[in-house]
Amino acid sequence: MRAGYCQLKTALVILTFYLCFYATHQLTELQVCNLCSGTVSDRTVVGRFCTSSAGRTEGRCCLRNDNTSNPEYIIGLDLSNCSLTCVEGLQDASTALMIDLSLNSIANISDSVFEGFIDLNYLVLPPNLPCPGGNSSWEKAEVHEGNRVCQVQRNICNQTGQMSFNCPENSLCAPYGPGFFECSCADNYHGYKCLREGEFPALLVFGPLGASTVLISILLWVTQRRKAKSV
Ligand SMILES: *[C@@H]1O[C@H](CO)[C@@H](O)[C@H](O)[C@H]1NC(C)=O
Ligand SMILES: *[C@@H]1O[C@H](CO)[C@@H](O)[C@H](O)[C@H]1NC(C)=O
Ligand SMILES: *[C@@H]1O[C@H](CO)[C@@H](O)[C@H](O)[C@H]1NC(C)=O
Ligand SMILES: *[C@@H]1O[C@H](CO)[C@@H](O)[C@H](O)[C@H]1NC(C)=O
Ligand SMILES: *[C@@H]1O[C@H](CO)[C@@H](O)[C@H](O)[C@H]1NC(C)=O
Repeated sequence: MRAGYCQLKTALVILTFYLCFYATHQLTELQVCNLCSGTVSDRTVVGRFCTSSAGRTEGRCCLRNDNTSNPEYIIGLDLSNCSLTCVEGLQDASTALMIDLSLNSIANISDSVFEGFIDLNYLVLPPNLPCPGGNSSWEKAEVHEGNRVCQVQRNICNQTGQMSFNCPENSLCAPYGPGFFECSCADNYHGYKCLREGEFPALLVFGPLGASTVLISILLWVTQRRKAKSV
């Protein structure tokens, strides 16, 4: 009877652990959509885009659930007229194709806010702000109807002239948001500057998975040990 109770307790602890983990994950995803009240209006560019791409609106976000990959992800973010004075922590919206930050009194935005936003192809800003990464990171950067509109990200890796970058040998350049790029090692190379050739470092890839297994093991060990003592 006592052992059964302990097993139940262990199961509950693990369940709680997972519930907390998923609840936190869910919460952070919602935060960016609820940075201010209101919802995406169908009269705004983001709203029209959302309707035309059959997205689901939630707060200030437009979400797409393409049934090939399970989690829903943000494709549009409408934070216009949101009383924002500074912008940071938009990382949950890094999958967005379209972001509207117009009608806010924002003095400046760090370029790093959009680091990793590789799909962002339409960004509306208050007219005082430059396009992130500079004009050369966009096909079109202009003031239109009182807003700065940055359209179609340029591939920084594939430009002739002053903006082209060289990645180290054995690595490939890939765009990583307006003005950003990353060098990833070519097949079969890894390590600092991709100098090492050979097997892929499994520890790196399976690191987070391994860590949670260790955590659960410790949890089990502690609870089981307590059970052994009490018997
Ligand atoms: C995705 O779901 C829609 C309807 O919800 C369906 O019409 C479509 O065929 C599905 N696509 C795939 C790849 O399953
Ligand atoms: C901005 O929001 C305020 C109230 O939140 C509203 O009165 C005003 O009409 C909005 N402006 C625009 C251009 O939507
Ligand atoms: C951005 O604005 C804040 C205050 O509005 C200021 O403290 C900061 O130095 C500015 N940063 C840049 C890079 O201009
Ligand atoms: C970027 O382009 C806009 C509009 O064409 C222009 O007003 C602005 O001066 C340019 N900025 C830079 C840094 O070249
Ligand atoms: C660079 O861009 C051109 C067209 O814009 C494309 O044909 C070419 O394949 C690209 N090269 C690389 C290395 O991506």
